[in-house]
Amino acid sequence: MVKGLVAGRLALVTGAGSGIGRAACQVLSREGATVIAADKHHDSALETIKAHTALASGAFDVGDHSAMELDVSNSKSVQGVLQNILKQYKAPPTIVVNSAGITKDNWLLKMSESDYDSVLDVNLKGTFLVMQTFAKAMTEASVTGSIVNISSIVGKYGNLGQSNYTASKAGVVAMTKTAAKELGKFNIRVNAVLPGFINTPIVKTVPDKVMMMMLMLVPLGRMGEPEEIAEVITFLSSDKSSFITGAAIDVTGGF
Ligand SMILES: NC(=O)c1ccc[n+]([C@@H]2O[C@H](COP(=O)([O-])OP(=O)(O)OC[C@H]3O[C@@H](n4cnc5c(N)ncnc54)[C@H](O)[C@@H]3O)[C@@H](O)[C@H]2O)c1
Repeated sequence: MVKGLVAGRLALVTGAGSGIGRAACQVLSREGATVIAADKHHDSALETIKAHTALASGAFDVGDHSAMELDVSNSKSVQGVLQNILKQYKAPPTIVVNSAGITKDNWLLKMSESDYDSVLDVNLKGTFLVMQTFAKAMTEASVTGSIVNISSIVGKYGNLGQSNYTASKAGVVAMTKTAAKELGKFNIRVNAVLPGFINTPIVKTVPDKVMMMMLMLVPLGRMGEPEEIAEVITFLSSDKSSFITGAAIDVTGGF
C-alpha cells in the first residue's frame, strides 16, 4: 500500500519541467501522490518524471506518473490537458499546483507593452484558467481538493525592474483569497505560497550585485532550495492543513 501525506491522490503540477514545479512533483510523489507534470516544454516535464522514477527506484512505489504539454495562458491548452487527464485517469486531480511562471524584467519607464502582457498572461491569467478549469472539474466530480498557487514575496514588497511580475504575483494572492471564499463550500481549499529567493533557473537573470544585496536582507543568509518550497506545497496539499484556506504563506528565510 502507498504511504505518505498525500497517498493515493492525483496531483497536477504546472511549470513542472524546472525549479519549484519539478521539486513539487518529487516531494508529492515521495508522499504517495500520482503526479501529472505539465509544462510548456514537454521534454522537460518528461525529464522530471524520468529523473524522479530513477531516483525513486526501489525506495517506494513510483506510481503511474505522466508528463503533459501545457501552456497555462491558453484556455484551449488547459482544457486539452483536463480532457487528457479524464481519459487517462478517469477522474480529475484533487491537488493542483500552479507553479508555471515567467519574468521579463525592465525598468517601468522602459517596459514594453508586450513584456507586460506576456508576464500577466502566464502568471495571473494562467493561474486563473487552471484554477477555474480544474476547480470546475472537481465540483462536477463531487470531490474535494486543494489548490496551491505560487506567488512571490516581491508581490508584497515590490522589486526593481519587475512592475509586471510583482503586479502579477500580488494578483495571484488576491485571486487565491477570492477563490478560497468561493470554493470553500465545495471543500476545495486554495492557498498561496510566497517564496523568497530560491535557487532555480528563473533567478539566473538577476545580476550578481543585486543578488548579493538581496541576500544581505535574508536573516538565514542564503537562498532557499526548491525542495524547501515543495515541502510547504505538499503540506498545503495534504489533510495536515485541513483548516487552512485563503492563506498566503511566506517562505523566504525571513526576508
Ligand atoms: N525562484 C525564485 O526565486 C522564485 C521566487 C518567487 C516566486 N517564484 C515563482 O515560482 C514559480 C516557479 O518558478 P521557478 O523558480 O521554478 O522557475 P523556473 O523557470 O525554474 O520554472 C518555471 C517553469 O514554468 C514553465 N512555464 C513557463 N511558461 C509556461 C506556460 N505558459 N505554461 C506552462 N509552463 C510554463 C517553464 O517552462 C519552466 O519549466 C514561478 O511562478 C515563479 O514566479 C520563484
